Amino acid sequence: MPRILVTGATGQIGVELTLALRECYGADNVIAAGHRREPSGSLVHTGPYVSLDVRDAAALDALVPERGITVIYHLAALLSAVAEEQPLQAWDINMNGLLNVLESARKHGCQVFFPSSIAAFGPDTPPFDTPQDTVQHPSTIYGITKVTGELLCDYYYRRYGVDARGVRYPGLISNQVLPGGGTTDYAVDIFYAAVRQRHYDCFLRAGTQLDMMYMPDAIQAAIQLMETDVSRLTHRNGFNVTAMSFTPAQLAAAIQQHLPDFTISYAIDPLRQAIADSWPRHMDDSAARAEWGWQPRYDVAAMVTDMLRHITVKLRNE
Ligand code: SER
Repeated sequence: MPRILVTGATGQIGVELTLALRECYGADNVIAAGHRREPSGSLVHTGPYVSLDVRDAAALDALVPERGITVIYHLAALLSAVAEEQPLQAWDINMNGLLNVLESARKHGCQVFFPSSIAAFGPDTPPFDTPQDTVQHPSTIYGITKVTGELLCDYYYRRYGVDARGVRYPGLISNQVLPGGGTTDYAVDIFYAAVRQRHYDCFLRAGTQLDMMYMPDAIQAAIQLMETDVSRLTHRNGFNVTAMSFTPAQLAAAIQQHLPDFTISYAIDPLRQAIADSWPRHMDDSAARAEWGWQPRYDVAAMVTDMLRHITVKLRNE
């Protein structure tokens, strides 16, 4: 049985991934580690939790052998918009955090999962059917840390044999924990606004098309890639994965199928609009499909139905 450490376990992906891993591998085998956000009851009541700043190499390096860790899902990072506000801190957390994880993995023989992002591409990347292997000149500090992270993970594999693997996630839509400081956050915020006040003021332009994915598929992608027999993999890191691709106007129309009185208006945030404009519109994820059987379950309609159901119940109980 693997012994797993999840860094960034209090974040948008972290909480749901930790709970899913505990279901798969047993609660005691999955140690959640968080730092910036308070852990939710669902994290601390279902298994072990530690407070850990991934920049603290000594603490990480002590924790891994002490808990017998064999696999690290390294999620701790600043997202794109907040990273633009604090570029030095973003570099420190995203890069030094990853380096510390890879060093511990090298010393203690761990497997590593590293989530990259559509942000690892830039304005000169082909925006439609973005190939798996193509130009990567991101214009954001977040994207620079992601493409560097992909390269560093590949380097640790080639140089030291560290079994590091990862995907390029698109915008992730979920209903348990809010994202914080991302450019694709509108696609989560819109559901809370729709249920609460039937209106959403969107910070991206109506026609800004981006790749997206519902959280259950994102969790499945991570676990499936990590469990794939390594002999099947040609790539290891930065697999393009997507499940749907839409604009704010199209998402609003899908919500109106359920809530006909829902309306959307636009108050563009120039910072986040510029970030979104530098990202691809729709990635080609055929390498992930061929090498490890990636297959999303949720399209836009199924995701919208499920999101509205969960958020309606959540807000009613608040
Ligand atoms: N969802 C992320 C963001 O918007 C992209 O990886 O920052």
